Amino acid sequence: MAFQHTHLLGIEDLTREDILTVLETADSFLEVSSREVKKVPVLRGKTIVNLFMEPSTRTRSSFELASKRLSADIINFSKQTSAVVKGESLRDTIENLESMQTDAIIIRHEASGSPHYIASFCRSHVINAGDGTHEHPTQALLDAFTIRQKKKRLEGLKVVIVGDCVNSRVAKSNILCLTRLGARVTLAGPPAFVPEQLKSLGADIEYNLDKALESADVVMMLRIQMERMQKNCFPSLREYAQLFSLTPQRMNRAKKRAILMHPGPINKGIELTSEMASSDRSVILKQVENGVAVRMAILYLLLGGKEREITA
Ligand code: CP
Repeated sequence: MAFQHTHLLGIEDLTREDILTVLETADSFLEVSSREVKKVPVLRGKTIVNLFMEPSTRTRSSFELASKRLSADIINFSKQTSAVVKGESLRDTIENLESMQTDAIIIRHEASGSPHYIASFCRSHVINAGDGTHEHPTQALLDAFTIRQKKKRLEGLKVVIVGDCVNSRVAKSNILCLTRLGARVTLAGPPAFVPEQLKSLGADIEYNLDKALESADVVMMLRIQMERMQKNCFPSLREYAQLFSLTPQRMNRAKKRAILMHPGPINKGIELTSEMASSDRSVILKQVENGVAVRMAILYLLLGGKEREITA
């Protein structure tokens, strides 16, 4: 399979064919996680660094498991327990880690564009695990994988993304990824969270949630990204929840077989109710499960695994 990229910095760099290659490769890795011995020798001898400068539960564990299931060695690096707290720069951190002969650096950073900066000087493959408000490409790929798994297609589907789209790297990557695969994306939320300029990425905008949800195939809820807000963008959480929280009544406006997604972490009672999160419409934990196979596919495609070893 052709995947001519050295790094995965954003969905913006991927063609429709690249995205399909990742999804098809992930299909072949899904089964590995259900084996008694959840391991294939595909990346034996490779060294991967999980460099997380911001907190994470899903992405970090998922990349760690993906690396281990491919038989790579992985170093987990977190800001709080590193020399970054003593003032070491990002460039010095990367150069020191690379001197130990790393093959890939997975980076999450609060500054948009940091993976691009690292890729400009480092020798290892760079994978963006979320940079500021810019992109979270592996989240979008696992979301596309999950939609395709549940709906058998993406072409022509109506996907509604609800909430703090302006501060969400997940929303940006998903708009790019899903429209490239032929889905129609509608953003819903208050104007401060869904500004007109997001239309330039290829999405429609609807400020009335009930209207937005009509005939939706997929509803993707987002949390409010308090940590990225310059100023308060809405009067109160209570008012926000009244207008934009996903309740069973609101979900009934979507198609009967519509699925509910959320990248996590969820703020239950704000963007959706606990009842909705655990309802039979919810595929939220399936997204997390699929994330491992999708990240295995990314590591395999970038680090040059051999196809015959997947079945080993
Ligand atoms: N979806 C996601 O990025 O979750 P984490 O912040 O837990 O990695």
